[in-house]
Amino acid sequence: MPAFPKPIHLAHQMIRGVVRGGDVVVDATLGNGHDALFLAGLVGEGGCVIGFDVQSAAIESSRERMAAEGIGHFEFHHVGHECMGGVIGLECLPLSVVMFNLGYLPNADKEIITREDTTLVALDSALELLRVGGLISIMCYPGHDGGDRESEAVSEWARLLPREAFRVACYGLHNAPNNPPFLLMVEKLR
Ligand SMILES: C[S@@+](CC[C@H](N)C(=O)[O-])C[C@H]1O[C@@H](n2cnc3c(N)ncnc32)[C@H](O)[C@@H]1O
Repeated sequence: MPAFPKPIHLAHQMIRGVVRGGDVVVDATLGNGHDALFLAGLVGEGGCVIGFDVQSAAIESSRERMAAEGIGHFEFHHVGHECMGGVIGLECLPLSVVMFNLGYLPNADKEIITREDTTLVALDSALELLRVGGLISIMCYPGHDGGDRESEAVSEWARLLPREAFRVACYGLHNAPNNPPFLLMVEKLR
């Protein structure tokens, strides 16, 4: 790992330290399925990756990525992550990790972005569904229109989490131009 890893690589490293074989984890923003594939490798065949995206192209592309690797231990839902509380079955709980990679699907319609109103609903659900010791990772992209507001709202949400129940860390390049991406990590303590 380089001295200054990319925020998403740091997220992966921290997640690796928490997930055990057989766990159920969530990719709240499937996109092209890179994070879902990473998670599937960690939970193994005895576990499950539950994924959400609002775009059928993302669901399709993520399914293809899993199929290309012969992976079947996943369930992908073509609904917004704000619905996760009603979609994830009790038998899947508690979750060990929920990953959010906010923003838009690369090489697709840049108008379809995650938005603070629904993201905050999903984050509150994730806190409820997470096991003690579990992690929520949130990649924030303040550099695009709408991403600035969302990043600010998510940062404030995380900053206000009660510190006796949650530990929160933030990582990103502080002196880079053009509002660089940053990572928020939330650990549930009790
Ligand atoms: C940056 S991409 C995710 C990248 C992905 N994790 C990967 O590994 O390729 C953000 C995704 O969030 C999706 N999205 C937007 N609003 C959403 C919502 N309310 N619920 C779930 N996904 C949403 C977009 O369609 C897009 O595919």
